[in-house]
Amino acid sequence: MDALTIISQEHSNMWRLATTLDQVASDMQAGAPLEHAFFDAALDYITQFVDRMHHPKEDDYLFRLLRLRSTEAADVLDALEADHAQGPENLAQLRAKLAAAAQGSLPGADLASAIKQYTDGLKRHIKTEEKHVLPLARKVLQPQDWAEIDQAFRTHSDPVFGDQAKAEFRELFHRIVSLAPDSVGLGGSTVGSLQATATPSQQPVLLKVQGLESCYGRIKALKGITLEVRRGETVALVGANGAGKTTFLRAVSGVQSISAGSIHFDGEDISKLRSDKRMRRGICQSPEGRQVFGPLSIEDNLRLGAYTQPKHQVAGDMEKIFTMFPILKEKRALPAGTLSGGQQQMLAIGRALMGRPSLLLLDEPSMGLAPLLVEEVFNVIKTLKSQGMTILLVEQNAFAALAIADRGYVLETGTVTLTGTGEDLIHNEQVRAAYLGM
Ligand SMILES: Nc1ncnc2c1ncn2[C@@H]1O[C@H](COP(=O)(O)OP(=O)(O)O)[C@@H](O)[C@H]1O
Ligand SMILES: [Mg+2]
Repeated sequence: MDALTIISQEHSNMWRLATTLDQVASDMQAGAPLEHAFFDAALDYITQFVDRMHHPKEDDYLFRLLRLRSTEAADVLDALEADHAQGPENLAQLRAKLAAAAQGSLPGADLASAIKQYTDGLKRHIKTEEKHVLPLARKVLQPQDWAEIDQAFRTHSDPVFGDQAKAEFRELFHRIVSLAPDSVGLGGSTVGSLQATATPSQQPVLLKVQGLESCYGRIKALKGITLEVRRGETVALVGANGAGKTTFLRAVSGVQSISAGSIHFDGEDISKLRSDKRMRRGICQSPEGRQVFGPLSIEDNLRLGAYTQPKHQVAGDMEKIFTMFPILKEKRALPAGTLSGGQQQMLAIGRALMGRPSLLLLDEPSMGLAPLLVEEVFNVIKTLKSQGMTILLVEQNAFAALAIADRGYVLETGTVTLTGTGEDLIHNEQVRAAYLGM
């Protein structure tokens, strides 16, 4: 059922884009200038990947086979296909309005309400598919149907869902992120090249945690966690607010004391090692809430991340971070407090990378970010993963985290309740109900 994962990913991208368009349109209604380049890039994206690719694939494969297997969804499918057919016309109208607004012959407020009307339609459409069509597909389609649909969605010659096109599709999304106004975007590009994800192999275990317990006073926040991360793996630890995710990461990095259990890193028992010593071993953390030092410059923040490292390598490493996040280079001398939320998150990740991690711990990197930037942060993580970094990613945003993880653990009030591959967990009914809101 790879196709379902692809469709859901496309939907969450579209949802983020729609929410971002809404926000920029609202700003315009409140008097902000027309963001012509941004709207233009967003409409391009929708034209290229939604109208030309996403919708035809659904019509030709998923919807067609669903109609064969069930009459239950005929009305819904009719309506959705009518939406698909109407899509290009709606977009053309929106483009005409954008051009008119750019020339000054249409008031910005009128363009803004046209955009909102369009995104409302888009969101309604996505919701219908997620609520009615995908669950039905999961229920009634047969293995041979899935083979055909997956093949269509996966095939490398496919203009969109092949690897090459996926990179192109991400590039287009990056363009939108960098053109978006500072309030919702980065106002500058971030990761340049995005390679295809490397396949994780059966590498040796790097982090091995057994029966870990940790308390705040008399309250036990972690009740015996067993978890492992292999070299080169991206492992997601997902769970609701208060489940114990941060406590767990802090216990691994050594700033939180443990009351039972053990932590082995690269074969060595580090349970009693001080946190700076663990950092020297290569355990580097980007903390929850970013915690950059606001009054210090961006460069100085990065230097702090390298305090366990020999001085001679710092300048070179900083240049690598700047290549990855050009926006940080542009603003290198400014106080970190002047950065937008998304930029601060990039800085926090950059700071952790300055410690030359062999295990990168990320605590809710998408927390509090504008929807468009959530995608961007996960792209950064994907890039690091493709470069071979070992990552333990803690997230409330379970879908996005599991989608890029090799394996995942579900944490509930201090206990691991489920574990499996990222793919398995995404499709697990219990996880879908509890965390994915489906
Ligand atoms: N400093 C603290 N003092 C007391 N209790 C805490 C403290 N930090 C966290 N807790 C409690 O520990 C549990 C786990 O919290 P936390 O690790 O922050 O969860 P998560 O990161 O998954 O949201 C929660 O019940 C929380 O209230
Ligand atoms: Mg937390």
